[in-house]
Amino acid sequence: MRDAAPTTIYLKDYTPFGYLVDSVHLTFDLAPNATRVTSRIAFRPNPDALDRQFFLHGEQLKLIRATVDGVEITPDVTETGLTAVVPDAAFVWEAEVEIDPGNNTALEGLYMSNGMYCTQCEAEGFRKITFYPDRPDVMSIFTVRINGALPVLLSNGNPTGKGDGWAEWNDPWPKPAYLFALVAGDLITHPGQFTTKSGREVELNLWVRPGDEGKCAFGMEALKKSMKWDEDVYGREYDLDVFNIVAVDDFNMGAMENKGLNIFNSSAVLASPETSTDMNFERIEAIIAHEYFHNWTGNRITCRDWFQLCLKEGLTVYRDAQFTSDMRSAPVKRIHDAIDLRARQFAEDNGPLSHPVRPESFQEINNFYTATVYEKGAEVIGMLKRLVGDEAYAQALELYFDRHDGQACTIEDWIKVFEDTTGRDLTQFKRWYSQSGTPRVSVTEEWTDGIYTLTLRQRTDPTPGQSEKLPQVIPVAVGLIGANGDETMPTTILEFTQETQSFAFEYTVEGWRLQGCEGPERVSGANPPKPTASILRDFSAPVILEHDQSSAERAFLLAHDSDPFNRWQAGRSLAEDTLIKMILTDAAPETDYLDGILAVLRDSDLDPSYRALILGLPSQSELAAMMHEQGVTPDPMAIWTAVETLRQVTAQHVQDLLPRLHSETSIEAPFSPDAEQAGQRALGGAALALTSRLDGGAKAAEDYQRADNMTLQLSALSCLLRAGKGEQELNAFYDRWQDDRLVMDKWFGLQVAMSAPAETADIVSHLTGHPDFNWKNPNRFRAVLGALATNHAGFHRADGAGYSLLADWLIKLDPVNPQTTARMCSAFQTWKRYDADRQALIRNQLTRIAETPDLSRDTTEMVTRILNA
Ligand code: BES
Ligand code: ZN
Repeated sequence: MRDAAPTTIYLKDYTPFGYLVDSVHLTFDLAPNATRVTSRIAFRPNPDALDRQFFLHGEQLKLIRATVDGVEITPDVTETGLTAVVPDAAFVWEAEVEIDPGNNTALEGLYMSNGMYCTQCEAEGFRKITFYPDRPDVMSIFTVRINGALPVLLSNGNPTGKGDGWAEWNDPWPKPAYLFALVAGDLITHPGQFTTKSGREVELNLWVRPGDEGKCAFGMEALKKSMKWDEDVYGREYDLDVFNIVAVDDFNMGAMENKGLNIFNSSAVLASPETSTDMNFERIEAIIAHEYFHNWTGNRITCRDWFQLCLKEGLTVYRDAQFTSDMRSAPVKRIHDAIDLRARQFAEDNGPLSHPVRPESFQEINNFYTATVYEKGAEVIGMLKRLVGDEAYAQALELYFDRHDGQACTIEDWIKVFEDTTGRDLTQFKRWYSQSGTPRVSVTEEWTDGIYTLTLRQRTDPTPGQSEKLPQVIPVAVGLIGANGDETMPTTILEFTQETQSFAFEYTVEGWRLQGCEGPERVSGANPPKPTASILRDFSAPVILEHDQSSAERAFLLAHDSDPFNRWQAGRSLAEDTLIKMILTDAAPETDYLDGILAVLRDSDLDPSYRALILGLPSQSELAAMMHEQGVTPDPMAIWTAVETLRQVTAQHVQDLLPRLHSETSIEAPFSPDAEQAGQRALGGAALALTSRLDGGAKAAEDYQRADNMTLQLSALSCLLRAGKGEQELNAFYDRWQDDRLVMDKWFGLQVAMSAPAETADIVSHLTGHPDFNWKNPNRFRAVLGALATNHAGFHRADGAGYSLLADWLIKLDPVNPQTTARMCSAFQTWKRYDADRQALIRNQLTRIAETPDLSRDTTEMVTRILNA
């Protein structure tokens, strides 16, 4: 059905709803194509509201009957909801509607996946279940009865009764409708148990389809660890008798934090060593933690309106990152997050889709679950913590939970707890929430009379709707390193608040320190050598650092920086510099890079996962962004060629070390998905990729045969495909795993990811014709078309085959699943970086999508924003 005409919603227009909801009773009579939903809702006028219009959201609902205080009424129903005349006092609303979950392919509201009923209500899906004020500031207590001939019937909160074909649930905690959930199916539980610190016994269940029982143990352990961690670190206890997680095969997102009943994309919860990679395990642990942590940051304290989305998402991403740092390696997590932020958020923030962490307007809220709201939103919290310190952060959070429990809040409420805790004025800091675009910080150094001065300059390019930018508060973590490689000034936070600001450092008996800070006196007459600066340590702010260091200085930092992030960054900068030179001038790879990498790889004292990261290269799309910033039009094939050459030369350069790396990373112990073994496998995999460049894949073929876990199996298969081999292995893989959906997603995706640029589009066409290509399943669709969009040189093939293929599929998916279609349109967001021919080809495809009759509101908004670049 066609969406309602697009309208723009503004933050500034917020007004509270005219009524409060005291209770909600829902009865579901489940039937695949005619589910009846009966609602009984107690309303009363909201004393804080001026507008008493009684409007309930409702979409794609068949209204059977409606009553107010038992008297039948005829509301005025439109495509988006209904209005009715109601008493100017408390009243009871009742309605019965019919919905069709069996034909709900959009996977929003109540839908079916493999015979199982499930819901997805965030952000605005509840209105597809029944008429309701579907907005997060309307919170109420829900009681649910499910009638259906399925063995497992679940909803939010605690179970209050069940019998043959029915179950009842009560959720004592007031919540907005977006946290409502219902699941009904033939499911098996992997049970668990947790005792909270105050002694509450909580029953845990991970519900899966028969056949998936063997993939639950890891998720269950991750849940228990998350529950314990939130008690230990944030003092947050769980607040119901049961916590249920359900795995669903058809799901638009990763997972959803419905109160007491989290629903997960099966790819985000099911794991076993045979079928999941180390990366899968780490992601699953993080997502389970994330959704669990929402119980406090999101559910107990929710958002006033969807503009405040970062209030729950930014904070919860920040919390799950802290959790992963504690469970695994903090530096490795930080580096992964920085890589991810630069790849996705910087691309978004420097293109047509740029928007503030707290947007000020939207047409379709589903389009704003973005890297900016999530990842930059989390970075903003990290900066706040750096600025106020760990102790004040902990106090501010206590105050936040205390003051706002049970409320629907705003960013202003959040900032206020920090102001009240610390007495600081955070007015300037708030610009991080309102100003879009990535700040660029450029650095110049001065060295006179033994005083070392860093001058920082910040600027943010104009972004859509925001031409003027004001300076932001940027915490810049800096350390200084002496000529012998020893640190002579430990990490110091510079509070960088002006457009241009200088920070002078002087030499004392205890080394260097920031002038004007408390500490020992300057040693006058001493003649210290000029220190080397390590700037933006631990990636202390989400900015682009422009620091013209020589290759020698970078190599020095790569060898000596005590900050693991910046040590890695030094290697990354060397790689970027050398690649850009190779692309632009056909230069040979620089020895500073090659020798620096070799030295790090040789250092067996370093964590293997860290050494694996040092071998990483910037993505081809990031290289394109860098060239574009430097005023050069990127040529995807030239970038691809430079990366291939650098890989080949690196392999030769570290050749003698490879056997040692292989033996150092071979694991005798039984498989464990822990960080230690994962790190060894990551380094082993990186070494195998280099070895394969030298032996044509001989070792990879051997490894493939003896692989007893998915990480090794996939890394060996990738090497073979990269070497233009592996056809036989690919077939064997198919035969072995064809009945496992999640593994088959890998099989599809890998072939596209590893394809040579000239073949990518043909391989995608071929795979979309495969009988197992179920394009209505979001995981499978993303496995193939998502891999096309991220294979930079393949997607940007000069004849436009990649563009038209993606556009064909987006046009086909849109009427079926607008949400997933719209998200994938972002593949085109960087189009203005490329040459005129490619731009014309992309514009044609975007226009073709935009002109598709009955295009969804979701996709319309995305293509219009991208086209208006
Ligand atoms: N609340 C979201 C899920 C969601 C997103 C619902 C968009 C509706 C629309 C959930 O908490 C979430 O953020 N999930 C992430 C994973 C997480 C680890 C960042 C996801 O699904 O990708
Ligand atoms: Zn979330």
